[in-house]
Amino acid sequence: MSKKSSIFYCQNCGTSSSKWLGKCPSCNQWNTFVEERTSKKESKKDGYVSNIKNTPKLLNEISYSSENRIVTRDKELNRVLGGGIVPGSLILLGGDPGIGKSTLLLQFALSSKSKKILYVSGEESEKQIKMRAERINKNSEHCYILTETSTNNIFQEIEKIQPDILIIDSIQTIHTSYLESAPGSVSQIRECTSELIKFAKETSTAVLLIGHINKDGAIAGPKVLEHMVDTVLQFEGDRNHVYRILRTIKNRFGSASELGVYEMSGNGLRQVTNPSEILITERDENTSGVAIAGTIEGARPLLVEIQSLVSSAVYGTPQRSTTGFDTRRMNMLLAVLEKRCGFRLGAKDVFLNITGGIKIDDTAIDLAVVCSILSSDQDVPLDNQICFAGEIGLSGEIRAVNRIDQRISEAEKLGYKKIIISKYNKFNSKDLNIEIVKCGKIEEVFRLLF
Ligand code: TYD
Ligand code: MG
Repeated sequence: MSKKSSIFYCQNCGTSSSKWLGKCPSCNQWNTFVEERTSKKESKKDGYVSNIKNTPKLLNEISYSSENRIVTRDKELNRVLGGGIVPGSLILLGGDPGIGKSTLLLQFALSSKSKKILYVSGEESEKQIKMRAERINKNSEHCYILTETSTNNIFQEIEKIQPDILIIDSIQTIHTSYLESAPGSVSQIRECTSELIKFAKETSTAVLLIGHINKDGAIAGPKVLEHMVDTVLQFEGDRNHVYRILRTIKNRFGSASELGVYEMSGNGLRQVTNPSEILITERDENTSGVAIAGTIEGARPLLVEIQSLVSSAVYGTPQRSTTGFDTRRMNMLLAVLEKRCGFRLGAKDVFLNITGGIKIDDTAIDLAVVCSILSSDQDVPLDNQICFAGEIGLSGEIRAVNRIDQRISEAEKLGYKKIIISKYNKFNSKDLNIEIVKCGKIEEVFRLLF
């Protein structure tokens, strides 16, 4: 006997209601409620059935070893995961359609040398996966492919194969027969994920899930999905560009601001070990409005190129627009230049762009932003051997930034001759092949450069 019932779920945030609502009271989105038949079978024979009962333990009685992370051959993936895959963890990988999520995980699965991997696809046929594998030119003795969408059958196959790592492509396509609602609906996603969590924790199998994202860029399905898993990764980059960025959004076992860079080539994804090189354009002649900033993403120092264009406003209100940088912060920097340093930028259009399509919210790039704006305003190119690392305060002072040594050595590594930093910054770098110039105020930098 099964109990028939239907509940309306908000497809955006997962709120449930017994009747249809036009506007979700929790996330304020319109038209998101969908009826889902959630008649539950009374006994749960299908899916993953847990047969372990836990008892309270003292912390001392619990043992674990820190070396048991699975270190993959993909260095960028290791980096964003905080040093490798933790057995028994659930990792969710989100990203736009066609960005390369399936490629990334298949490539990872096929590069395994010792760990047994089961790649479950609910989206593609075996032949399509084979074609993709041929394209990325990899094969492995330890990778099994299964095209299946029912968790019941998936768990039966898992029992036979006993993999170390399970990959599900994608969570929106699998369903449990325990619920009647359609695959991809909020209740299915939630139920399938909780079955997988139980399975992962009890058998210490690492599970990687691919998740679709909706038009706002959030992972489709209930927000609770992100709370349930241990790690959330986002694969981003624009489809016409060959570079892809893998970013950690949440990580229970490592830093949540790590970043890995890949290049999509004709035969799969290639790791980019030195991203600063791709973020800075090669140029023969100096153009005005370009400045190089030393920033830190996660634990990784990066040099980025900032370009700006300052021109007289054609319309009454000047336009301010930025790509990859906070517009309000740029407005604040413009106000500092206007009030403290006497530059007349109030009647000018200012456009700012961080090249390579990455977004930066490190305040240490302020100095480079200001210099790039001034360079464009004065139409004087900056020396292409100089880079910057400093935060600007409201009185026009240059403030110290964290991890300056890493920034300096990255600049040196890429062959820069001079780096301008705050005079309040303490650093330990010695015997470097780069000149370190210390400034206290924007005016000093201005006098030095122009
Ligand atoms: P895919 O992994 O199918 O994306 P997702 O699973 O995120 O939807 O990636 C498909 C895109 O990647 C497609 O546009 C083709 C491109 N691609 C390459 O450029 N080179 C390759 O070697 C492969 C396998 C795909
Ligand atoms: Mg895919």
